Amino acid sequence: MTRLSRGLFLSFEGTEGTGKTTQMRILVERLRCLGYVVTENQEPGATAIGREIRRLLLDPEHQEMAPMTELLLMFASRAQAAAQIITPALERGEIVVSDRFTDSSLAYQGEARQLGFDTVLALHRLVLGTLLPDLTLCISLDVQAGLERAYQRNLSSDRLDRQSLAFHQGVDRGYRKIAESEPQRFRLIDGAGTPDEVAARVWSQVEPLLK
Ligand code: TYD
Repeated sequence: MTRLSRGLFLSFEGTEGTGKTTQMRILVERLRCLGYVVTENQEPGATAIGREIRRLLLDPEHQEMAPMTELLLMFASRAQAAAQIITPALERGEIVVSDRFTDSSLAYQGEARQLGFDTVLALHRLVLGTLLPDLTLCISLDVQAGLERAYQRNLSSDRLDRQSLAFHQGVDRGYRKIAESEPQRFRLIDGAGTPDEVAARVWSQVEPLLK
């Protein structure tokens, strides 16, 4: 088993239907085949408390949920994942791969829900301090094409997936803003092509960090 001296924190981001979860699965498998100890995280969710919060967040019944409530619940789930999963794994020198992290809150709640990046970043500092991924892979695809793909796979029935095209375009705009302000950490990966082609693009970003 290979453990890094300080651990490595990777996250995946993307709008709906970009193949983000498939890419995460391929990367985790590849790292494990190379002998790395990999701990996975998913947001919202991953812990028992996080799963209860996730149910509240995604329940289509809760149409009345205020944007700030949504944001605080995302961070409540993230705080629990940080304490229970992410920080301990990094301290053990493992690689943590997270399906979404604070960048989702910036794009969904900050940009699409218009709470603003400053509000989300202030909350991040308060709740998580300096805990940030070393590298974020944002799988990027035309928003409408992604939504159609997600609908075809019948994955889009939760409260957030059911938002309008304009909402999802706002999310995409949010990701592009992050890519502009943090080009070193946050990489947009072209999601077009076969899963293997996209995986090769992901790997070319991750491999240099393993050395
Ligand atoms: P999920 O089914 O995990 O979606 P996906 O497969 O697209 O990752 O549901 C998570 C939803 O929550 C997704 O629509 C993105 C949204 N979300 C936020 O709005 N803010 C956040 O901070 C996070 C982590 C997720």
